[in-house]
Amino acid sequence: MKTMFIKDIHQCLGEEVKLKGWVRNTRSSGKLQFIIVRDGTAEIQAVAFLPDLCDEICTVAKSLTLESSLEITGVPKEHPKKQGVYELSVTGLKIVNLAAEYPIAKKEHGTDFLLSNRHLWLRSSKQWALMKLRHTIYFAICEYLNSNGFYRFDSPILTPNACEGTTTLFQVPYFDEGFAYLSQSGQLYAETGIMSLGRVYDFGPVFRAEKSKTRKHLTEFWMMDAEAAFVEHEENMKIQEELIRYVIRTVIQRNLSDLEILERDVALLEKSDAPFKRITHSEAISLLRSKGFDIGDKEDFGTQEEAALTEGSDLPLFIEKWPKEIKAFYMKRDQNDESLVLGNDLLAPHGFGEIIGGSQREDDYEILKTRMLEEKMDMDAYQWYLDLRLYGSVPHSGFGIGLERFIGWIAGISHIRETIPFPRMIYRIYP
Ligand code: 4AD
Ligand code: MG
Repeated sequence: MKTMFIKDIHQCLGEEVKLKGWVRNTRSSGKLQFIIVRDGTAEIQAVAFLPDLCDEICTVAKSLTLESSLEITGVPKEHPKKQGVYELSVTGLKIVNLAAEYPIAKKEHGTDFLLSNRHLWLRSSKQWALMKLRHTIYFAICEYLNSNGFYRFDSPILTPNACEGTTTLFQVPYFDEGFAYLSQSGQLYAETGIMSLGRVYDFGPVFRAEKSKTRKHLTEFWMMDAEAAFVEHEENMKIQEELIRYVIRTVIQRNLSDLEILERDVALLEKSDAPFKRITHSEAISLLRSKGFDIGDKEDFGTQEEAALTEGSDLPLFIEKWPKEIKAFYMKRDQNDESLVLGNDLLAPHGFGEIIGGSQREDDYEILKTRMLEEKMDMDAYQWYLDLRLYGSVPHSGFGIGLERFIGWIAGISHIRETIPFPRMIYRIYP
């Protein structure tokens, strides 16, 4: 007898097959016992007609508890009323492990309870759909980059210096060297990679000791940093747009049933696959003031401002040309206005907020060094980074996508803690 994955069951209609999985739910009605079985690929309703089965199998069928693991044999058929939906007429059942009383029941649980049981919560339909979405988005980002000339170039996690300011650094004791820091972004290392490979990306966990207790902040999250030699600000944004649009299309192609489980409005998502909008930081300030925000010329945007800026549009929005004071030291100055840098954020529509931070990088040794001295950075720890401007410096640009925020938008999930298997937040490290 063939052992099948549930997703492939339509290939064996009328044939006796074996499935291996877990009990999502059970219910009985007279002589019928219904068992919803899931195996990671899909789920199916198995129907045991008790008069046709031996006593032993009947006893097993009636004793199944939620989340018990089992092997089940039966004959798949198409549902009498629902096209494309299949059922299994049970011929045999074997329990692999009879589950103890499952703590996550059908009733509503508080988020804190669910987070404490994250190791079990991950089995529920919505979490299952989110993890599959994460899988697709992760690989779609890699696919786009791989087919556009980017090499994977892994940056280190233990680093001697900060990438994104010193206020959110995690420090770890490091032998005789004193302390090392957990990487906040692999960008600076990706910049070394392009001098060898032209275009590179990394993709891995990054760490920020963010004191923010918001829907969008994790202390450990995944970032993809892309970097490209001889690419300037305009082209940098073009790459970001193409990549995001590729991912949207890919998810819609591959994960429609997951988007359905998540009750995501797919039509709305499709509308974002069109040329993105663009404004400068100073235009954004004017727009916000016209909407009643009391905001200074050189301020960054919080959740409310981001939502107001994207209000009334289904398109992602680039905000470019930022005051240099509120952006990182490595961003290249705008030659038309030295008070600005050629940075861009990309805001997802419908209030999902910033998903990308990117910029053209300062490639002039003296200008970069002056800026770093102004910011009182430890020059010894960054000499390697400055070296890149001494030995064949080129115009170059890059950007970083926050994977969880990107998934949050695509999934339509308001809090990003559900987009990563085990979220790390200031108040939570278990399980
Ligand atoms: O805007 P950020 O800070 O940019 C950088 O780190 C650059 N070095 C990236 C680069 O140019 N290669 O972070 C990039 C993205 C943000 O747009 C956001 O999506 C995400 O990372 N992000 C977070 N996601 C979850 N939790 C946090 N605490 C995050 N901080 C940033
Ligand atoms: Mg940012």
